Amino acid sequence: MNVIVIGAQWGDEGKGKVIDFYGSQAEYIVRYQGGNNAGHTLVVNDSKIVLHMIPSGILHGDKICLIANGVVFDPSAFFKELEHLQSLKVLSAVPQEQIRISERAHLILPYHQRLDQLRENQAAKTHTNIGTTQKGIGPAYEDKASRYGIRCIDLLEPEALALQLQRVLAEKNSLFQHYFQTVAMEFEPLYQDCLQWGERLRPFMADVREILLEALKHQKPVLFEGAQGALLDLDHGTYPFVTASHTSAAAAFTGSGVGLKYPVQVVGVTKAYTTRVGLGPFPTEMEQESAELAAQIRQVGEEWGATTGRARRIGWLDLVALKYAVDMNGISSLALTKSDVLQNIDIIKICTSYRLHGNTIYHFPASASDLSQVEPVYEVMSGWGVYESSLMHTLADLPHELQNYIKFIEQFLGIPIILLSTGPGREETLIISNPFQEELAH
Ligand code: IMP
Repeated sequence: MNVIVIGAQWGDEGKGKVIDFYGSQAEYIVRYQGGNNAGHTLVVNDSKIVLHMIPSGILHGDKICLIANGVVFDPSAFFKELEHLQSLKVLSAVPQEQIRISERAHLILPYHQRLDQLRENQAAKTHTNIGTTQKGIGPAYEDKASRYGIRCIDLLEPEALALQLQRVLAEKNSLFQHYFQTVAMEFEPLYQDCLQWGERLRPFMADVREILLEALKHQKPVLFEGAQGALLDLDHGTYPFVTASHTSAAAAFTGSGVGLKYPVQVVGVTKAYTTRVGLGPFPTEMEQESAELAAQIRQVGEEWGATTGRARRIGWLDLVALKYAVDMNGISSLALTKSDVLQNIDIIKICTSYRLHGNTIYHFPASASDLSQVEPVYEVMSGWGVYESSLMHTLADLPHELQNYIKFIEQFLGIPIILLSTGPGREETLIISNPFQEELAH
């Protein structure tokens, strides 16, 4: 069996830890969308490691990590991340055999970041910004869609690259100078950087689709590592407050170039509550109801963005939104993270429907304006006090109230919770069943 792990909320669900665990079961680990806007946090031997671009399988030594065609790839950020891992002694040498980058992956270049930043700053003046990570993700996907993009393989063809870069820069510079009233970006230093990146990337570049197909044909277990979250999906998320890629499970196939023929289970990751970083509607946000409780959860759960350091907004678990994510992605089981963060809270709320214009609704509205006006309808449950995560070996060991909470979620969504994270460390994980060993139900 192969597994796709995706975030079932607005990102930051604790996917890093879940992916790290499933990565230990797989032989191939694939990033297929997004870029270094992702921040997958892992705690290994009490040290915190944040991965933005490199698949988390890199920490397991013997895994093949693939960066597939659907990713937007920032070469400068990639080499910085590699060097950082080496400085932490997580990697001893540059693992060229272990990391394979698709020749077809589109590049994030410095003008993409600059455009992202200028746009966000400009829009902030009229409060119409999205709150992006400012890593250049949107502008890079825009160039890809408008056939202006530069791909990894293009770095190895200097003459064609020069022409392409001149054409793109002419357009970007017109925007920089005339619309944003700032300085132009020079061609020559950027061109030289591109040539150098090309040479450094050459040993990593490969036909990733071919490698993956061989693995799948030979029934090697593959983990597709989703980034961001279902509600940030370009088509199905809370548009326009979304990222520029498809974060839904289906993107694992388009973003890696393998067909729909191989068996796969989709595991959604959700926190026991909800967070959102960046702007946009958030029905169960608790800030207005109880800023104090939100601050406590932020503190205990260390809810600051792994990529940007921004404070995450905090809210109760929203089952209307989660059901939408489950249906949209064919999620067949869930990993529930951070229930330990809600320890010591007497009353826990869980949203089961919304009130909108005097009606009760059970669906997730498409309109950003409706979504910002809905009032959550809550089921109120007792909290579960404090538990010692090292003593939680089976579901029956969990506090009764937490068992009830889990059952409530499972019944509402009609799917099981198969992994429960009871703390940040690798060992603080309760495994209920293993998707790599599951047969597909026909
Ligand atoms: P972008 O992906 O940088 O364009 O940002 C678009 C929106 O997605 C913003 O609200 C970001 O905060 C959010 N976002 C992007 N990547 C992540 C992530 O990995 N976790 C959580 N939110 C993210």
